[in-house]
Amino acid sequence: MSTVRVVSVPGDKSLSHRALMFAALGTGESVLRGVLPSADVRSTAGVLAALGVELPTSWSASDTLRVTGRGRRGLMTPTRDLDCGNSGTTTRLMAGVVAGHAMRATFTGDASLSRRPMRRIARPLTQMGASFSFASDDGLPMTVQGGVLGDIAWVSPTASAQVKSAILLAALVSGRSARVQEPIRSRDHTERMLAALGAPIIVTDDTVLLDPVDQLAPLDFEVPGDPSSALFLIASAVLQGQPLVIVNVGINDTRSGAFDVLQRMGVTLSFANERMVGGEPVADIHVAPCRGLLGVTIGGAEIPALIDEIPILACLAACAEGETRITDATELRVKESDRITAVVSNLRAIGADADELPDGMVLRGGSRRLAGAIVTHADHRIAMAFGVLGALPGNDVQVDDDACVDVSFPGFWELLATLQTAP
Ligand code: S3P
Repeated sequence: MSTVRVVSVPGDKSLSHRALMFAALGTGESVLRGVLPSADVRSTAGVLAALGVELPTSWSASDTLRVTGRGRRGLMTPTRDLDCGNSGTTTRLMAGVVAGHAMRATFTGDASLSRRPMRRIARPLTQMGASFSFASDDGLPMTVQGGVLGDIAWVSPTASAQVKSAILLAALVSGRSARVQEPIRSRDHTERMLAALGAPIIVTDDTVLLDPVDQLAPLDFEVPGDPSSALFLIASAVLQGQPLVIVNVGINDTRSGAFDVLQRMGVTLSFANERMVGGEPVADIHVAPCRGLLGVTIGGAEIPALIDEIPILACLAACAEGETRITDATELRVKESDRITAVVSNLRAIGADADELPDGMVLRGGSRRLAGAIVTHADHRIAMAFGVLGALPGNDVQVDDDACVDVSFPGFWELLATLQTAP
C-alpha cells in the first residue's frame, strides 16, 4: 500500500516582508516565527537594517526572530543606498515607509527589479507630499525624499497589493488617514496585520480606509506556509497522479484563486484542520491522486488572487486535455520577467502548443513528451514552473538558472526531488 507524503513549505513571502516591517515600526519587542529565509525577505531585512533596525542578515525557517521596533516614525536616515535585490515588495512597501519619514533615500536593485514600474507608487506618495526622482524614465534607481505627509484618497487603476500597501504604510508612519480603492481587491495581508495590531482600519469590497494611528503594538506572529510555493508541489503530485498532503498553508481567499482553478481542471483538493493564525486563515491541503486534467478558462475578477500562480497553471494546462485560455492578466508583463512571453516561449521551446495574447495566453494541452532548454530570465517562478515539468518521468527539460528559486523557495529542488521518489 502506498503511503501519502506529508510535507510543509517555507513561510509565506508576502507575510514575511510585512511581519518584519510592522515589527520594525512597532513599539517594543515583536516575536516572529517561521519568517521565510529567502533572498527577497533578506532584502527587506537588509533595507530595515540600513534604516537602523537591529536584524539578523540570515536566519533559518525554525528560528524565532525577536525584533525591537523603533516606533511608528523612528527609522534613521540611511548612510547607504537601499539595495532591494530582486524584490518588488521590498521596494514598493519600503518606499511608502521612507516617504513618511523626514529622510532622503535611494532605492536600488538587480537588473530585473530596476526595469519594473515604480511610478505607480510614486504617484500616490507624491500626492501625499513626498518627492521622487528617477535615474531614468521609471524603475530603479529611485530617490525618495520623505517628510510631513497629508491624508489621501486614492483610486488605484491596478489591483496591486504593493501599491495599496505603500499608501497604507505611508499613512501609518505619518499618522494620516488613507482611503484606497482598487478595481478588484488585491491580497489583503497588510489590512489583516494592521487590524490584528489594533489599527483603526475598515475594509469593504474594494476599498480600504485607515484612520490615523498613534502607536503600533508589537507583533507576535507565526508565518504560515506560502500557498504560492505549495502550488508547485501540488502541481508535481497532480502530474504524477500521486496523493499529497501539505500542512500549514495560508488559504486567504485573496491568494487562493489557483486552488479554485485546479478544482475546475479536475483536481480533488480538500482543506483540513482549518484555523486562524495571526488573523490569517490556514489549513492542511490534501491532494487526491489525479486521473487527468481538463483545459479551463481563467480571467476576470479571479486574476489578482492567482496572479503569481499563472506560470505553473500554464504548465499544468500544457499537460491537460483541451484548450486553456488566460486573459485579463496584463500585469504579468511587469513581474520579475514578462511572464506572458517567458511562459509561452519556454513552453514552445519544449514542444508544447502555446500562443501569446496581449493580456494572457492560449495553451493547447496534450500528453506529448516535453524536452528542451528553458530561459528563466532569473525569474524564480519560471524556474520552478518548468522545474516541475522537468521532474516528470520521460520529460527532459533543462532550466538555465536553478539558483534563482532562492528568491521565494529555498530548498525547492530538494523537496521536489523527494516527491519524485515517493513510493
Ligand atoms: C505582492 C503583491 C503582488 C504579487 C507579489 C507580492 C505583495 O504584486 O504579485 O508577488 O506581497 O504585496 P502586485 O502588488 O504588483 O500585484
